[in-house]
Amino acid sequence: MGERVREISFSEVSVGVLDDTPAGDVYRPILTDVNVTLDESTIAIIGANGSGKSTLLQLFNGLVTANSGRVLIDGLDPIEEAKQVRSRVGFVFTDPAAQLVMPTPLEDIELSLRKRVPKAERRAAALAVLEELGIADLAERSVYELSGGQRQLVALAAVLAVDPQILVLDEPTTLLDLRNKEKLRKLLADLVARRGVRVIFSTHDLDFAGMADRALVVDSGRIVHDSTPDEATRMYRELIMSDSS
Ligand SMILES: Nc1ncnc2c1ncn2[C@@H]1O[C@H](COP(=O)(O)OP(=O)(O)O)[C@@H](O)[C@H]1O
Ligand SMILES: [Mg+2]
Repeated sequence: MGERVREISFSEVSVGVLDDTPAGDVYRPILTDVNVTLDESTIAIIGANGSGKSTLLQLFNGLVTANSGRVLIDGLDPIEEAKQVRSRVGFVFTDPAAQLVMPTPLEDIELSLRKRVPKAERRAAALAVLEELGIADLAERSVYELSGGQRQLVALAAVLAVDPQILVLDEPTTLLDLRNKEKLRKLLADLVARRGVRVIFSTHDLDFAGMADRALVVDSGRIVHDSTPDEATRMYRELIMSDSS
């Protein structure tokens, strides 16, 4: 059926909520008129708390629905063609507790693999995934005893186990120490180079953003800047400075 297109496009996308006020329902915009086509391997989304980063990322796999406009992943609508889109797009939440459901990392990865790997081979396959991330030693530990950073890596492993073409990560370095952050950076670069995975992440970490091919700055629900990480970082700093003066 031809090669993978793997183009991601947003046209005139807006998201908002209705606030119940004494004067009646008032539309509060969260994202406004997002127009962007993404075809780079690695994309960073930078922006202050509440700027709309998570909402933007959740549009990629239909966790959030646009009020107007169109999101297309590989020509597919994340809401109407949810199944096909979710098989392409892996989503890693900031808080790993949102996605780890089993008592141990090994069981969690096995759960991820249940539709792809026969039961008899699942355990070995799950271990191989943990090994690839260098966390095989955590396989049978209780997830409750893991540090935030270790849990974050396990959550990432559970998503990678199903071999997504597009990996979306919402502030993936928040819980990571410097060592794990460098590990994540290398891992993501490897996924891009070896598996051709597309990586899209939001971040506050301007240093981590540097690994991206392209960076978008989101402010009050709009993309206000779109260029290289260096340029975007500079813009973001200026934005913060002008806000706090
Ligand atoms: N489901 C929702 N209902 C109401 N408000 C929301 C909802 N989701 C997000 N918001 C609001 O939209 C804004 C952007 O949120 P979010 O996308 O989480 O920003 P960020 O990830 O950049 O911190 C915030 O003001 C947040 O409170
Ligand atoms: Mg967020």
